[in-house]
Amino acid sequence: MTEPTAKHLDDYRVSDFLISDIELRFELAPAATRVTAISQIQRQQTGATELVLDGEQLELERVAVDGRDVAYRLEPGKLIIADVPERFSLELVTLIDPAANSSLEGLYMSDGAYCTQCEAEGFRRITYFLDRPDVLARYKVRIEAPKAEFPFLLSNGNKVDAGELEGGRHFVSWEDPFPKPSYLFALVAGDFDLLQDSFITRSGRNVALQVFVDKGNLHKAHHAMASLKKSMAWDESRFGLEYDLDIYMIVAVDFFNMGAMENKGLNIFNTKYVLADTASATDEDYHGIESVVGHEYFHNWTGNRVTCRDWFQLSLKEGLTVFRDQEFSSDLGSRAVNRIHAIKVIKNQQFAEDAGPMAHPIRPQSVIEMNNFYTVTVYNKGAEVIRMLHTLLGEAGFQAGMKLYFERHDGQAVTCDDFVAAMEDASGIDLRQFRRWYSQAGTPVVTVSDSFDNGCYRLKLSQQQPRIKGLSDPLPLHIPFDVELLGEGGQSLINRVLDLTGEEQVFEFPNLAQRPVPSLLQNFSAPVKLKYDFSTEQLVTLMRHAGSEVARWEASVELFSRAIWGNVSKLAAGDAMGVDSRVADALRAVLLDPQLDRELVAEVLALPSINSLIEQVETVELDALLAARRFVVEELASELADELQARYREQSVLDDAPARALKNACLALLCQASAEAESLALAQYHGSNNMTDTLGALKAVMAAELECAEPLMADFERKWNATPLVMDKWFTLHAMAEDDAVLTRIDALSQHPAFSLSNPNRVRSLIGSFAAGNPAQFHRPDGRGYELLTGYLIKLNSANPQLAARIVTPLIQFAKFDAVRQEKMKACLGQLLAMPDLSRDLFEKVSKALATD
Ligand code: TRP
Ligand code: ZN
Repeated sequence: MTEPTAKHLDDYRVSDFLISDIELRFELAPAATRVTAISQIQRQQTGATELVLDGEQLELERVAVDGRDVAYRLEPGKLIIADVPERFSLELVTLIDPAANSSLEGLYMSDGAYCTQCEAEGFRRITYFLDRPDVLARYKVRIEAPKAEFPFLLSNGNKVDAGELEGGRHFVSWEDPFPKPSYLFALVAGDFDLLQDSFITRSGRNVALQVFVDKGNLHKAHHAMASLKKSMAWDESRFGLEYDLDIYMIVAVDFFNMGAMENKGLNIFNTKYVLADTASATDEDYHGIESVVGHEYFHNWTGNRVTCRDWFQLSLKEGLTVFRDQEFSSDLGSRAVNRIHAIKVIKNQQFAEDAGPMAHPIRPQSVIEMNNFYTVTVYNKGAEVIRMLHTLLGEAGFQAGMKLYFERHDGQAVTCDDFVAAMEDASGIDLRQFRRWYSQAGTPVVTVSDSFDNGCYRLKLSQQQPRIKGLSDPLPLHIPFDVELLGEGGQSLINRVLDLTGEEQVFEFPNLAQRPVPSLLQNFSAPVKLKYDFSTEQLVTLMRHAGSEVARWEASVELFSRAIWGNVSKLAAGDAMGVDSRVADALRAVLLDPQLDRELVAEVLALPSINSLIEQVETVELDALLAARRFVVEELASELADELQARYREQSVLDDAPARALKNACLALLCQASAEAESLALAQYHGSNNMTDTLGALKAVMAAELECAEPLMADFERKWNATPLVMDKWFTLHAMAEDDAVLTRIDALSQHPAFSLSNPNRVRSLIGSFAAGNPAQFHRPDGRGYELLTGYLIKLNSANPQLAARIVTPLIQFAKFDAVRQEKMKACLGQLLAMPDLSRDLFEKVSKALATD
């Protein structure tokens, strides 16, 4: 095997040729779909004579320039035609095999339906093309297929023609008036149930809305439709952005590598982010649907109308669109709880990526396989960078920047720099230093110390940047650092965003009566690690009195984390473990505060996860950490058992999502405290009329390993074995169990009739959640957790490389673990690297991991 090579941002060159129009004809057949593509091509770079097109897994039948067959050359991944004229029409006929396409890129079959996934570089599996996002063409598409089996034939834009063909076949033609890059092309053919509605835009245009789902699922499509209408209204009211076509279609498919895809006018969704009813979907699922429907809809302006010049600019559309979907969820629901969820993604996942072998800036500088860069860094840290711009410019300045961005770049393929320039020019704020966030990787550390004398409080802030292999030396960043100062009685004295731009700066707050308690990095105003030596008293004050609910939650995380690490030290010293009574008191105060958002209380009760604790330290003694966390959870739970019971009962009679969140958080703790809670869990399970409560009860008894867990799991399986998305929850519960039998159980479940290695949702629910969400068993000292994952990766490597490379993540993040575990992880990675047919996707991640020492 020749080793895959990297592409570099600095090597970007404009395309030698452009394609203004393409006409595509699809004669659909499972094993041999014929694709005829007629492109209008013109030279863009003078002197260029050789046309080089991208193509993979294609059988070429015809190559004609201006109607005449021409000579061509095939190289791996390329079709080359020498000596083409200045302007010409190119006709290509290719044959493809969607039935055999298990990678779920290009044209493939999902449960009998045809569908496509072209981002990032899947269009080249459909025809030879200039498959890069800065080549924008107008598409006309004609689809032909047997009518009985495939009554719906869909593509981007507007339907312009349809008719009958011989032999029971029919055709539909589509035209998309907006020039677009190939990654936004989509085609769907199948038989579906169709939910229809409409939306009147603020300028009075009527848009037809259609949601296509598998037959029998119509009743589960309403929440997605409602979410779509809310998204359209919100983008008009908050961003002044209106939809631009006469029709908007969403198709839900079972086989999908990611959450959803924003293809122009024809979104394709993982069923997980469309289908919901209260019996089968949790409140969290409902929320996920709303945010993903919003996300894909918002891409119509941030991604489609203005797209990326090249794939290194991915965060241009993804960071910005995640920011927009987060704002959408926050405007519609609880801003504090949404913010907490976003902060957890950064601290628990993005910090780990930034500290591991795949660390990259939000605008990567080199890439082997683009699919590996749809990451929490590009998406979620990217959104944090946009949020910092919003903090620096304010809502009005930010919206002025957005307006200028669209005025300048509508219809273009642009860079992250173009975006920042629009923000800078519209606001007059100097963003030169801020731009470094786009090119530096790794998590900055902000160290804080303070002093108080003569009524003057001084905060000394310093920033440290990690050095990352392959990147130039880091420079100080522009960090918006949001601070609140609280007085002795908890009253708010000062609220201010400090501009930390130097390596070290002192900020003074004069004329204070006493030393204030600082609430630092409020609302997580920058994606950095904060180092400040909080006292227990300070944290207790912040938990009760900080002005922002997010800050109260942050203080609780800090307090509980300290309690857990304190016990890790005690274990190391051979001392008895214990929990300071002030910790339980602080938790009690939150639990009993009737003013607090109940979902926020539930977040506090969840206590810091093992993964989030690991991110707080340089090296981890995992066994001690697991023991210490378990001890603190059990201590707090038994200390607060009466109050937990009381709030549980009080919330049980209510029927809304916050009540369910709080009730289930209480139940989870109660089950940890004593087996007496088993009766509560049993009653909840059997009395439940919704999936949130059913799953809440199951989770609680599984995590506490109570006796009723097994029969309840069996009951759940009997009820839901025909509903794949619900079985995913069941597989995940099994995969997260911390008992020693989990490995054999996972292998047995991989043979379960509801399981399939070819469906990404199933693989993620059983194998992915084991590796990422069960640190106790994945990191077993005997290494068998790593071996289990590796076995499945070997099976997935050639069938679905994109999926394999996604779930390998916990195996490459070995740096914090002890030498014994690291050796075992590296041995597994070595085994993967030695595979003769290792995919580019896995190669990139595994080779980078093994190159780190
Ligand atoms: N652009 C999609 C989104 O975030 C992401 C996506 C969907 C994707 N399917 C994919 C990326 C397949 C890579 C490969 O909205
Ligand atoms: Zn996106």
